Amino acid sequence: MQTLDLQFSIRYAFSVFFTRNVFSTGDPLLASTLLRAGEKCHRVLCAVDSGVLAQRPSLCREIEGYAEAHPESMQLCGPILVVDGGESCKNGSAAIDTIMSAIHKNHLCRHSFIVAIGGGAVLDAVGYCAAVAHRGLRLIRMPTTVLGQNDAGIGVKNGINVLGRKNSVGTFAPPFAVINDFAFLDTLPPREFRAGMAEAVKVALIKDKLFFDYLYTRRFELAAFSPRPIEEMIHRCAAQHMHHIGTGGDPFELGSARPLDFGHWSAHKLEEMTGGLLKHGEAVAVGMALDSLYSYYSGMIEESELRRIFVLIADLGLPLYHSALAALDVDAALDEFREHLGGELTITLLTGIGRKKEVNRIDTALMARCVDELMLHDGSREIGSARMDKPAPLYGDIN
Ligand SMILES: NC(=O)c1ccc[n+]([C@@H]2O[C@H](COP(=O)([O-])OP(=O)(O)OC[C@H]3O[C@@H](n4cnc5c(N)ncnc54)[C@H](O)[C@@H]3O)[C@@H](O)[C@H]2O)c1
Ligand SMILES: [Zn+2]
Repeated sequence: MQTLDLQFSIRYAFSVFFTRNVFSTGDPLLASTLLRAGEKCHRVLCAVDSGVLAQRPSLCREIEGYAEAHPESMQLCGPILVVDGGESCKNGSAAIDTIMSAIHKNHLCRHSFIVAIGGGAVLDAVGYCAAVAHRGLRLIRMPTTVLGQNDAGIGVKNGINVLGRKNSVGTFAPPFAVINDFAFLDTLPPREFRAGMAEAVKVALIKDKLFFDYLYTRRFELAAFSPRPIEEMIHRCAAQHMHHIGTGGDPFELGSARPLDFGHWSAHKLEEMTGGLLKHGEAVAVGMALDSLYSYYSGMIEESELRRIFVLIADLGLPLYHSALAALDVDAALDEFREHLGGELTITLLTGIGRKKEVNRIDTALMARCVDELMLHDGSREIGSARMDKPAPLYGDIN
């Protein structure tokens, strides 16, 4: 038998910049970011979320003005592409065809840039096209939602929904750079704003008690969208996500553990079951409440910790429960999640605020009882309703 072995590694590095009004002509950030790929004029296709454009009709003109003011670094390829905002651009082939056509019609090559400006859905759809066209164009993401800036836009994944399954097709493709422009958030509808905060609560719960304490202390300012705490929250949340991707040992998710998906196994199903009526962040809030309650009834967190988690979620204006949860088939949802992860079922639970533990087995009867209990929090914040006795720990020593 003859064998030829091959081994190589590729180093990835990208920066996330935080700014305001990136397209004001005097701001050098975008121009200098492009020049990181070489001191020359780069070909750039811009794709903009229709929802952003509707709120800021001057945006295309601002982008064109910026390009005219920076001919040393960028030249726009073709007209600015408008992509339908929200989940619809990830469903079906219409938006993907439009983006792909623009890439090919404007003769973008592997050295060209796509600048994607929009919510997580548009970033995912454009990012997917950028990753597969010519096997990879350079992508600069400019997330325009809280969720985009603190989570979806700063990671290494993209995805579209095929055959009705969320994110069932996609790639791992780190961006060339990310520019988080806080000014985009000025036009974000309140419900979208709140939904994005769920990811900050998530990352704090699994990784960073001090961050959780910050969110808890500032929760009323955050709920009122006070800019400074919001910016601090986004910055810290993005930093934690990036830290996990960079140092967690599994940036392209080859293993089964997916701690950043805390609360997501049920959230994904809730999004599907409600036909998208429940936003991703809202579904994650419910999913976190459920898995926190399960952690509590498994003897892994204290009641005082559970109480603080519920109070934070509720005071941020996020739901603890949704009626679709009652119809959730826990076994099927866990099985689907396992398939999505690949390999063994791995669910992240809490062993404290800022501390997590991966488990490979879920007591579905207990989980179903947690769903029942959570129903009581539909509009109410009382916990520990005494409908269930606290069972013995399922997962042994939690320390
Ligand atoms: N790739 C990843 O790692 C990753 C991670 C988390 C979530 N996601 C994906 O992100 C998507 C959710 O993203 P989202 O929460 O940003 O919502 P979204 O992209 O669905 O946008 C929500 C709505 O807000 C509008 N909008 C966006 N920015 C706006 C602004 N500044 N002003 C006014 N309106 C604006 C959009 O047009 C849309 O109608 C989901 O598809 C989810 O699967 C991807
Ligand atoms: Zn999420």
